[in-house]
Amino acid sequence: MIDPKTAALLNEQIGHEFEASIQYVAHATWFASETLPELSRYFSKQSDEEREHALKMIQYLNDTGQTVTIPEIPKPVSTFDSVADAVQLAYDQEVRVTRQIEAIYNTAAEANDRLTQNFLQWFLEEQVEEVSGMDALITVVKRAGDNLFRIEEYVAREGHPEDAE
Ligand SMILES: [Fe+2]
Ligand SMILES: [Fe+2]
Repeated sequence: MIDPKTAALLNEQIGHEFEASIQYVAHATWFASETLPELSRYFSKQSDEEREHALKMIQYLNDTGQTVTIPEIPKPVSTFDSVADAVQLAYDQEVRVTRQIEAIYNTAAEANDRLTQNFLQWFLEEQVEEVSGMDALITVVKRAGDNLFRIEEYVAREGHPEDAE
């Protein structure tokens, strides 16, 4: 029903989404340990979203008759030198995932796999939001300097993804 090469890449992507989810749990844990509860809550929500992404992909592959293998998940980064470093790692991860999803989309396009192209459209739009959200956070962190309370205020005010929906 769908292109096998594209399906294999999508199965790999399940691992990348779970990797992102676990990484954001590590982010949330570190922020909590630094007594930054708003950032911790923000990254917990991001983690939930990444898990949802993985589950969506699993369901799509199941629905199209593919055999799903959950990939091995790399160990997350658990400590950071600064809030700026933690946010930068999250931004880099979102950019990397965007490139990965674009690559799967391109493979689907070459194979004329319209179902999977259609399925991936939502993820591409989602990546615009996620890269933009992390980019905004980088700007806020830079502007706040040593005053971490200002970052917490920003995230409390408009940072939580579920509030935006
Ligand atoms: Fe994702
Ligand atoms: Fe993401």
